[in-house]
Amino acid sequence: MLTLTLLIVTTTESRIPRISLRFLAQQQGIWIGAAVSAQPLKNDAHYQEVLAREFNILTPENAMKFKTVHPERLRYDFTKADAIISFAKTHNMQVRGHTLVWYKSNPDWLNKSNFTREQLLDILQEHIYTVVSHFRGKLVSWDVVNEAITPEGKMGGSLWQKVIGSEYIELAFRWAHEKDPQAGLFYNDVSGEGLGQKSDAIYNLVKDLRQRGVPLDGVGFQMHLNLKSPPKPQDVAKNIERLAELGLEVHITEMDVEINTGIGTRKERLAAQASIYSQMLQVCQEAPNCKAFVLWGFTDRHTWLRQSPDDPEAPLIFDQFYRPKPAYKALIKTLQQNN
Ligand code: G3I
Repeated sequence: MLTLTLLIVTTTESRIPRISLRFLAQQQGIWIGAAVSAQPLKNDAHYQEVLAREFNILTPENAMKFKTVHPERLRYDFTKADAIISFAKTHNMQVRGHTLVWYKSNPDWLNKSNFTREQLLDILQEHIYTVVSHFRGKLVSWDVVNEAITPEGKMGGSLWQKVIGSEYIELAFRWAHEKDPQAGLFYNDVSGEGLGQKSDAIYNLVKDLRQRGVPLDGVGFQMHLNLKSPPKPQDVAKNIERLAELGLEVHITEMDVEINTGIGTRKERLAAQASIYSQMLQVCQEAPNCKAFVLWGFTDRHTWLRQSPDDPEAPLIFDQFYRPKPAYKALIKTLQQNN
């Protein structure tokens, strides 16, 4: 059986072109990945082909969110998520779980409720126990808590925060660890990649959790960027370094770079986009505790960002027709320079 397995793995690996993000990243022992949408994964062969060729880790864009996996109080539905797990297994890819606790993508039975604190604690514990147990052994990490902090660095006004209080964060990590002690447990947030009010608040939150022995392994930097105000690479590097001093890993978890807010021709904006992708990958490669570089999708055909017909947004590294953009070529070059 082992021989067969090795043959399958070898065969899978041997099909990965030497000039691909996946091949070059694997040479450096870092994960390079993309968020995956269940629909195109199911019915778009080109989507599947590029995904398997270029990436070695996947994040379900929506398939593991509360609303999707727990649509009714007494019903769970893992259909979409299991399909993504199955695709990853077939192509020898890892999976990041996203996300157990967030203020968005919660079902109506939860949002329109007036559960007491005790009831909500029971619901959240059962949700985490059930979902983490279902995927136990199939994920390398979980985004346990997502976006709990406001841009001003305060605790956000989620249902969890309002009814339970800040304790929900620590409890979520402890419950996730109980059901999958092997998975890396991450706090994931947006606009906290560089240095400033929000990244300081994230740093203080995770420092406190670590000091109190809460099972927390890393911080996710979402990296939803634009051309107007990307974080300074040196600030991102310093932020990653101070998290390393806490013993924490960093994953770049959701990178995309909007171009419609930039200035210049579309060609100039695509070049500026490529430079930002390259800078952030370089920062991650140079940081020993930065272990994953994951995009929020990979083709402009499937992005969460609004599409204005006259100037369609193009935040990712392949265009609408799966053709490599300057950003893709810049990432390849950045990986090659470090191999
Ligand atoms: O699947 C339903 C479909 O059946 C229905 O007809 C349609 C219209 O109501 O909605 C579809 O669900 C949508 C889902 O995306 C799948 O397309 C939800 O309404 C919509 O809210 C959801 O948006 C997602 C958003 O998170 C909220 O969950 C985006 O795709 C997703 O890219 C975005 O991702 C987030 C990360 O999870 C966290 N960080 C920020 C990032 C961007 O907002």
